[in-house]
Amino acid sequence: MQSDTTPTHVPLSDEMKARFAREVAKFPADQKQSAVMACLTIVQAERGYVSRASEDEVAAYLGMAPIAVYEVTTFYNMYNQQPVGKFKINVCTNLPCQLRDGQAALAHICKKLHVAVGGTTTDGMFTVQQSECLGACADSPVMLINDREMISFMSNDRIDDLLDTLAQAK
Ligand code: FES
Repeated sequence: MQSDTTPTHVPLSDEMKARFAREVAKFPADQKQSAVMACLTIVQAERGYVSRASEDEVAAYLGMAPIAVYEVTTFYNMYNQQPVGKFKINVCTNLPCQLRDGQAALAHICKKLHVAVGGTTTDGMFTVQQSECLGACADSPVMLINDREMISFMSNDRIDDLLDTLAQAK
C-alpha cells in the first residue's frame, strides 16, 4: 500500500480517473454517485488514506456535495482519514464484545504497543482503533486486521503472539 504523507495536494491521476470511470459505468448515468465507495477505495489503495482534498475531488468527479462524501468516509472506519500504520488493528468494543473482554483486549494492545486508541506507533507499524460490531459477537474478543482479516477469541496470549508475528513482517 502506497502512502501519500506529503502535505502537498496531488491531483487525481489519469489512471485513477480511468478506474473511477469503470466504477461509474456500473450504474445508470443519473446515479453515478453510487460509485462513491468504490472511488474512495481506489483513492485509499493508491494513497494509503483519503485526505480531505481527495474527498473533495471524489465529490467533484461524481457531482456530489462534499458533505455527502464526508458522511461516507466518517461512517465506515475502513476509510483512513489520515495515514495509518502498516497494520491497522480494529478491535470491536460494542456491547456484546464489551461483555466478553473486548475493551480489555483493546487496552492490552494499546499498553503493549505504547499507543493511544486511534494512534499509530512511532515506527509506523501499527495503528490501533476501536470498531463497531464486526458481526462475530460470540467470538469476542474480535479484531480486524487491515480491514480484511478477522480474528477471534483473542486472549492476551494470542494478542501477544499476533503482535510478535506482525512485527516480524517489516
Ligand atoms: Fe463485537 Fe459484534 S459486538 S463482533
